[in-house]
This record gives sequence, C-alpha cells and structure tokens, in this order.
Amino acid sequence: MSADADRLIEVDWGTFDPWRIQAVRHRLMDHPLLQLPSLVELSKRLESRGRVRTHSSDATPGTPFNTAPKLHPNHMTAASTLQQIEQAKAWMSLLNVQTDDTYRTLVDDVLDDVKPGVDRVDPGMCYRGGWIFITSPNTVTPFHFDKEHNFILQVSGRKTIYVWDHRDTVAASEEARDRFHACHERDRLHWDESLRARATVFHLEPGQGAYMPSTSPHMVENGDNASVTISFTYYTHATRRDSLLHAAHERMRGWGMHPPAVGQNALLDFLLHAGFRTAIDSREWLRRSLGKQPYTDGAAYAIAG
Ligand SMILES: [Fe+2]
Repeated sequence: MSADADRLIEVDWGTFDPWRIQAVRHRLMDHPLLQLPSLVELSKRLESRGRVRTHSSDATPGTPFNTAPKLHPNHMTAASTLQQIEQAKAWMSLLNVQTDDTYRTLVDDVLDDVKPGVDRVDPGMCYRGGWIFITSPNTVTPFHFDKEHNFILQVSGRKTIYVWDHRDTVAASEEARDRFHACHERDRLHWDESLRARATVFHLEPGQGAYMPSTSPHMVENGDNASVTISFTYYTHATRRDSLLHAAHERMRGWGMHPPAVGQNALLDFLLHAGFRTAIDSREWLRRSLGKQPYTDGAAYAIAG
C-alpha cells in the first residue's frame, strides 16, 4: 500500500493490474458529503432529475438487476428512505452524482488521486462517474456487471462483496458480455448459488474497498446494519476498445456469424476496432455538425441517461 498519508485511496500500485480484482483502502469515512444528512439533500436534488434507483429488500441475488426496481418497488421517496434507512427495507443508489456540482468535486478529487497510478498501465481515463449506495440491513444487490472500471469503497456499515473475474465465462458468458456492451441488457447473465465458490470475496468494513475491472460480475450482501458505499468509476482507452469489440461481435452474431471471443484473434480485433471506431467517430462528427450533443464514451464525465 502507498505510504502517502494524504492519499484518499491506498492502492498497491506496484502490483496494480487494471484487469485484476484487488483490495484497496480509503480515507473517506468521515467525509462530510458522505454523511446521511448530506446524502438526504443530495437525494432530493437527484430524484427531481430521475437519478435515483431503488428497490425493496425483497430482491435476491438472482433477481434480474435491470428490472429489480419494477419487480420489487420501494414506494417511499428517496429522502424518506434515507431518513429511516435502518427500517426502510430498501436498496437505493444515487446515480451519476458527478452531475451535481458539489459531488463532482468529490469525484474529481478521488479520481485525480488515483489517475497517475492508473495512467501508468491503463491510460485514457474518461467518463468519470460517482454512485452512492445506501442500503437497509440484510439487503442484497442482485448479481450483475457494469461497463466501467470501479473503485468501490465502504463508508459505513459492513457488507460482503462477491466479485468474479471479468474473463470467467462460467459466471458470465462471452455472449452475455457481447449483448451487454451492445445494448446494456443483462438478460444473458444468470445467477446460480454455485457461483459463490468461484468468487473473490471481500468482507468490507468502513475504510476498506475493492477495485473491480470493467464487466467483473458482482453481487453484494449487506450485514445486519445499514450501509453507505460509494463507487468511483471511469473508462479508459482499453475499456472503450473492449466494449466496442464486444458490441461489434454482437452485431456479427445478428448477421448469423460466430466470432471468436474478444482477445482470441488479434487481427480480427484490430480490423473490427478500426472499422467500427471510424463509423462511430463519423456519427459523432455528424451530430456535432448538426449542433446536437454527441453521445460519446470519450466524454470527460459519464453522461446521465
Ligand atoms: Fe455494479
């Protein structure tokens, strides 16, 4: 771990591999923006912009992640949920907190802190985002994966995070990754209790955290207390390339083709990346020319849907 006492996140940069799960530590437990009164106010601001995701504690590891809020709704407002989080029987995520001027500073402070170490082996940090999870006791985050690299940090309470290697095709098939990158659907991802034995498991206490590479499947179980957790996420040149290749493969599957897994054929990957990147860049150029906001995964901050 870094000996620098000023660092917000401590990472063993000597062994850091952007595609390997690893433990980290942090110093954000007492940060004023991460205490419940501040989070209640943030939740009011974000809820008015549709940037809160919530479901009840009835969700299980196998609940489909994308539809959990509809399958197990939490009918309370975000502020009410957070004000009584110990009894609320709810899971809540404050989404894209970087869209809030106050919290964007926190996102930048933390990601600026790790950027030099990340850049050495994984350049091109962009699409910065922040996500805060406030959860009632004994509540589960269903099995799922995300596109971004992720520093997930425990602020208060305890939880157990199960994480699977991003190359583990038992936890998530190549087809599941292709479809996710193409259209953000996770319906080819299937939970099975036997997966627990294959996971890297973190029993997180305040001050502890983990680094999870892009599309590492994960599932989270709270302890018997309420919990606050924050994730700082980003893309890099490598994650954008990986995502584009998976999306290209999904397109090829739609044409009846059966491409090899991403990474197995360097020449095919090179040609696909060059072709699809050019097409995407052209589309973005056209939107800019028409005065429209381009959707680009190279933006400085995550674009809130
Ligand atoms: Fe996640």
